[in-house]
Amino acid sequence: MSKQDQIDKNRLPGHVAVIMDGNGRWAKQKGLKRVLGHQNGVKAVRDTVEAAAELGIQFVTLYAFSTENWKRPQYEVNALMELLVSTIRKEVKTLMKNEIRLQTIGNLRELPKNCYTELMEAIELTRNNTRMTLNLALSYSARWEITQAMKKAAAMAEAGTLTSEEVTEELVSSLLCTADMPDPELMIRTSGEHRISNFLLWQIAYAELYFTEKLWPDFRREDFYDAIISYQRRERRFGLTSEQIVH
Ligand code: FPP
Repeated sequence: MSKQDQIDKNRLPGHVAVIMDGNGRWAKQKGLKRVLGHQNGVKAVRDTVEAAAELGIQFVTLYAFSTENWKRPQYEVNALMELLVSTIRKEVKTLMKNEIRLQTIGNLRELPKNCYTELMEAIELTRNNTRMTLNLALSYSARWEITQAMKKAAAMAEAGTLTSEEVTEELVSSLLCTADMPDPELMIRTSGEHRISNFLLWQIAYAELYFTEKLWPDFRREDFYDAIISYQRRERRFGLTSEQIVH
């Protein structure tokens, strides 16, 4: 039975988040510049997005650039931004053809103007697509996001539109960048690192975590299927006992 056939289409995670890691090491292993690792990571992005859309997954969030990534050498930051612009420009037709909506989370105001404009155009063009949402985390970190949410809550309290009794988990969720998305049920990280690295800290409270040794540029649809198969074999208890779960 093929890997794809082993997947139960009725028990898919609604939202999969991916920490794409290992581009630099992939390049180093081959004696190439780090930037080539990023360029080769685009194929893995395409495979992942295609596989997720074909299976029927509703949301995929990719950690494309963290707040901390701004501290990388300037030429690498520039190369990543250019790669983002050229990839969006090239792939926007494929997004339309496959009815995929593009969204972003993060501090987009930090992005170079051409990058911001390209993203906004693609978001606008794809906004009515309903098959799947591809959400890119750009200039994103979870602590930045939570801090923004707290600032918004403080401003509401100062304006007299929020009392402490009204601060609920739902309110906190509604103030995050992911307000209109379900929480990820599966988080994948490549390259053998077992860390969350400031990604979606609030939203992954109950997510299943899946780690693979594969470096991101080598990640293919079969590897994505492996992650889904692993997710479906697990018992998600949400704090209950095994006996309380109705199978
Ligand atoms: C982590 O590898 C990867 C990134 C910081 C960037 C990921 C970006 C892409 C795959 C480019 C295209 C993306 C889109 C969405 C168009 P690393 O550099 O941290 O690798 P290392 O840990 O081996 O050094």
